[in-house]
Amino acid sequence: MKYARITGTGFYVPPKVVTNLDLEKIYDTSDEWITERSGIKERHFIDWETKEEGPSDLAVPAVQMALQNAGYTFDEMDLCIFATLSPDAYFPGSGCFLQAKISPESTVPMLDVRMQCSGFLYAMSIAEMYIKFGRYQKILLVGAEVQSTTIDFSNEGRTVGVLFGDGAGAAVVEATEEPVGILSTHLYTQGKYAESLWVPEPTTKRRPKVSSDMKGLYPYMNGREVFKHAVTRMTEAIWEACKHQNWSPEEVNVFLIHQANARIIEAIAKQLNQPMSKFFINIHKYGNTTAATVPICMHEALSEGFMKQGDKVIVATFGSGFTWGSAALIW
Ligand code: COA
Repeated sequence: MKYARITGTGFYVPPKVVTNLDLEKIYDTSDEWITERSGIKERHFIDWETKEEGPSDLAVPAVQMALQNAGYTFDEMDLCIFATLSPDAYFPGSGCFLQAKISPESTVPMLDVRMQCSGFLYAMSIAEMYIKFGRYQKILLVGAEVQSTTIDFSNEGRTVGVLFGDGAGAAVVEATEEPVGILSTHLYTQGKYAESLWVPEPTTKRRPKVSSDMKGLYPYMNGREVFKHAVTRMTEAIWEACKHQNWSPEEVNVFLIHQANARIIEAIAKQLNQPMSKFFINIHKYGNTTAATVPICMHEALSEGFMKQGDKVIVATFGSGFTWGSAALIW
């Protein structure tokens, strides 16, 4: 059996920075409230007034960076998995649009994953299995989101509206004989909480599919419920990954936790009795970029020297679904 190692990462965020002070002009909110409750100071939004950009557009530079860092072209990939909750179109998947933009004559299979903030982790797990069992040798993973166009900018939307940002990340996973890379993945879903964090419309359940008076076009979130489950489930998943590898949390060098709220990460660190210095944090710059968060964290943790080759790394995510899980890696 082979091992599945990440050999190149990349990321991209649109240039428009939206600070908490900018949001004070839209919502009845304050920099102090947002910073204290979430740790977020700013996020990036696409500039929808000047051009149309979907997650597949944001993915292009992220993918180019990851491919360059791994030393491959797009056409050398055996498979590409695209994780997003904000697809360019109702169908087909954003992977198809990405492929057309990056290599129009390519026939590399493109697989879209719709597992929200856990989307990139699910993509890692699929890549792990395809590579470990020898089906594919090189797989490109993408997480990309445009959420700013679905945010409610009326005051009703302020709880969700201050938390999310746009961005993209990518990683190349390759087969190796060495016992390193993605050692295990542990995935969970509990659909009974689907309506605790969701965008109800448009829906296929009724006609017309879309109308201007629809209230459900904006995300709804039960913040407290999400918070509670996120802490409990990610802590459980981290323990599971550690036990599976026979690692104690003390032995883990780096924790890459989904950046939904700095307080969620602090609560997990406390439950594991581990110092915050082992937890990578970039939520202050990007907010929650859902499926793009993990690959953006990977890229920045590496380029900032926070994470290096040989490190024992635990990734954990939680998101709408509810979906959650973890991965254990030797980087
Ligand atoms: N600015 C100012 N006040 C706000 C606000 C905002 N943007 N959003 C909500 N409030 C108000 C509420 O109306 C409430 O006021 P009230 O006490 O007068 O009713 C007060 O702040 C407290 O709201 P509450 O929802 O209890 O705050 P909280 O401490 O739970 O923090 C979240 C809210 C959303 C930051 C927090 O619940 C959270 O982070 N949840 C998880 C979110 C998440 O991770 N989502 C993505 C998962 S992948």
